[in-house]
Amino acid sequence: MKNKSVFYCTECGNELSKWAGQCPACKKWNTVVEATESMKKASSLKGGSQRPLKKSERHTLSQVDSEDERRTDTGISELNRVLGGGIVKGSLVLVGGDPGIGKSTLLLQMCRELAERGSSVLYVSGEESLRQIKLRADRIGQFCDRLMLISETDLDSIVENIYEMKPDTVIIDSIQTMCRADVDSAAGSISQVRETTQTLLRIAKEEEISIFIIGHVTKEGTVAGPRMLEHMVDTVLYFEGDSNSLFRVLRGVKNRFGSTNEIGVFEMCKNGLREVLNPSEHLLCGMPENEPGSVVTAVMEGTRPMLAEVQALVCQTSFNMPRRTAAGTDYNRMNLLMAVMEKRMGLRFSSCDAYINVAGGMKIIDPSLDLSIVTALYSGYKNVPLAEKTIVFGEVGLTGEVRAVSQAAARVNEACKLGYKNCIMPKTSLDIIKSEGGNYSINLIGIRNICELSSSGLF
Ligand code: TYD
Ligand code: MG
Repeated sequence: MKNKSVFYCTECGNELSKWAGQCPACKKWNTVVEATESMKKASSLKGGSQRPLKKSERHTLSQVDSEDERRTDTGISELNRVLGGGIVKGSLVLVGGDPGIGKSTLLLQMCRELAERGSSVLYVSGEESLRQIKLRADRIGQFCDRLMLISETDLDSIVENIYEMKPDTVIIDSIQTMCRADVDSAAGSISQVRETTQTLLRIAKEEEISIFIIGHVTKEGTVAGPRMLEHMVDTVLYFEGDSNSLFRVLRGVKNRFGSTNEIGVFEMCKNGLREVLNPSEHLLCGMPENEPGSVVTAVMEGTRPMLAEVQALVCQTSFNMPRRTAAGTDYNRMNLLMAVMEKRMGLRFSSCDAYINVAGGMKIIDPSLDLSIVTALYSGYKNVPLAEKTIVFGEVGLTGEVRAVSQAAARVNEACKLGYKNCIMPKTSLDIIKSEGGNYSINLIGIRNICELSSSGLF
């Protein structure tokens, strides 16, 4: 039989029977390449064996063992939370993030905890020598002997090591440095990344070894290499944060074994990453008091409420086009809210520059941030501070209406816990928490429209 060649797109992984200048699926140009022999073989999980499945290999769901009890505690509760309660045996986890954000540090710390809890761990670094890893480890603390290190980039010898050692967990410090000898392109190229991940995926599933892969992030903010890397793995975590600030957030963007809206919060210290168990206090630390344009809001990150400070600076523009910037939130959303305020509250922003900043280096996209942006802009525009110890949350619609948000009670509780006295919130949310019979030691003010802000008595 004639061996048919297969082509695939290096951007989206789409397979084609003949070459094309433009990928019909993702419409990118010059991304279609011919697959090599080894890739065709590797494309099936079982290494391309064409054995027919027997009847005894079919199972009903109730015959399959539940995986639930097979989660391993990582010893880092913020990491457990993002993983959905610990490491699932045989899972492949991708950890992405900017260079220098702390990916290697986080995973080395996890290795330390795992080894201490009796698991055997193999840490493979293709980026650092053993001495460099040792230097980093010395900053983190004492390690026990169940952690093994190799500094290697050749995947075949790494695989040999894995089969020989049979560890519970393997860390691959950066997939972009790994290469397979039978794939003739440079390490970090799309076909190498695809093939090495494929091999690791097979080992993870067949040997039930949990594998963590570190992936570099491109300028656009996605893991370098094909998008399909994210499709291949079970869990994708992003480690983000401003490398100038010490605050780091681990966010799940895909998780086959848990929810993706949980985050883990860390702080980079001189002896490794430290968990931040109370992010609100951390985010509000050093906040100015009684200043116009500064407002505290309560957002939900997964199941956790978090207080954050939103700042607005509104000043006369000296250009034809007023300048607008948004740090830590969506720029377009800010523009939209300013348009709503101009129309509904009669403010004249057209001659004003406006800057919005979510302090603390957090990125917040929760729509309940809207009302706090509006309040901060109003306070900044009028140059009057909001009453002290006030929190504000609510979604704002195009007619200026303030809409209900989820989990209002949890947000109010967090504010009470931190000693807040007033809370401006959507009237509908207030009605809901009142009907639930909550008793709060805080002055709750429900508003229906942003026009009611000025008469809230808090300016
Ligand atoms: P690293 O884990 O090497 O980042 P990545 O693997 O994501 O590229 O983190 C490196 C940064 O963290 C570096 O700038 C130094 C800093 N760091 C500390 O501040 N404290 C520490 O204890 C360690 C180990 C690193
Ligand atoms: Mg690193």
